[in-house]
Amino acid sequence: MTSLPQTVSTPEVKISDLLRTDFPANFTFGVATSAFQIEGATQEGGRGPSIWDTFCREPGRIRDGSNGDIACDHYHRLDEDLDLIARLNVSAYRFSVAWPRIQPTGSGAANEEGLAFYERLIDGLIARGLEPHLTLYHWDLPQALQDLGGWTHRDTAYRFAEYARIVAERLGPKVKSIATLNEPWCSSILSYQIGEHAPGWNSRPAALAAAHHLMLGHGLAMQQMRALNLKAELGLVLNLDSAYSDTPDDLPGVQLADGKFNRWFLDPVLRGQYPHDIWVHYGNDVPDVHAGDLDIMQAPLDFLGVNYYSRTFVSAAGRKPPGATYTDMGWEIYPQGLTDLLVRLHHSYSDLPPLLITENGAAYPDELGTDGQIHDPARVEYIQQHLNAVREAITAGVDVRGYFAWSLMDNFEWAYGYGKRFGLVYVDYQTQARTLKDSAKWYQGFLG
Ligand code: NOJ
Repeated sequence: MTSLPQTVSTPEVKISDLLRTDFPANFTFGVATSAFQIEGATQEGGRGPSIWDTFCREPGRIRDGSNGDIACDHYHRLDEDLDLIARLNVSAYRFSVAWPRIQPTGSGAANEEGLAFYERLIDGLIARGLEPHLTLYHWDLPQALQDLGGWTHRDTAYRFAEYARIVAERLGPKVKSIATLNEPWCSSILSYQIGEHAPGWNSRPAALAAAHHLMLGHGLAMQQMRALNLKAELGLVLNLDSAYSDTPDDLPGVQLADGKFNRWFLDPVLRGQYPHDIWVHYGNDVPDVHAGDLDIMQAPLDFLGVNYYSRTFVSAAGRKPPGATYTDMGWEIYPQGLTDLLVRLHHSYSDLPPLLITENGAAYPDELGTDGQIHDPARVEYIQQHLNAVREAITAGVDVRGYFAWSLMDNFEWAYGYGKRFGLVYVDYQTQARTLKDSAKWYQGFLG
């Protein structure tokens, strides 16, 4: 296998023997969700409309024609869900704040009801001995800002920094960490170029402008939050992968895939520059970078969140990796790619902050069995293999501090609607009953 990322050899491990004690005692284990995917109550508490509310109403955008109006009804079931998290024996919960609950039109005064909801959530976590890990932007841009151009509009970066300050002033003192953005590749390229996510545009220059403004917004938000001298750790969450090919002929393709997906976001933040090869590749579509932007984007991070699900396999001839297995998303299961990625980050970036695995998980078509249980052995194996991959990276010297399983419970999987189930907990959308899957019980036992 030809790969750009540095690889480490995999010792023989019996995954089923994986123990909590194989990880450092202060290693954080958690579960993750995001606001739009679980909350529902989109017209309550003074919340304004977001780009996802609009997008869901455009015919053909969401595979099952669904929307986030009810989702997991988490907004109304907060206490029950906090109890659920505590039952899993995790020490931490990663959630996101919905910007349109805090600033219904994306700017101006804070909506007290929105802040109060998240304060109740955070207090509820702390009361249960759980660490709150807050994400500021998990894709639900206030629609009013989209009407002005969304992330293609430079001013949105400044609006985001203002929002970050409001949230951090009120909630920052109570949380363990604040991540500015979740997966900016998705909220730029997937949203403005590929058109699969809101707002569903198909323009590469628009997508690259959006990516630039997202990263600028990240840097400006870091400045605002640093000024508050919080104890909370401040960082950013990227979706990263490892790219491979099975022939040297495909190495330029591997380099390109890696550059567009990983380095385009990593290099500005960790090196203060865009990767030259990709900048050249994008030609006239590159963003308008103002003097000083890259310095702002390079604000020091307390942690880098890594979301990892699969690898990229590049084959101009259309070959598939032999023997590969896939989840219900059609994503190849490749835990070695996580070890490779973490080791590669460690070697490639001299200023790499500590890492958190802020998401990892798998979708499977789970069904409630006649025994009232949900048997999801493939998900159990997926999580075990990826935890083992993290353990190997730690052994290889990488500073990884935590792991959050995606997701606490089944939820609105964006363009797939409710058709893809990532939860450790099964949600019956008719009754909103939550049932622990075998994977949740495994995690509970592993952590207990
Ligand atoms: C990453 C995203 O952050 C999350 O919202 C999504 O549900 C998972 N990946 C699975 O696709």
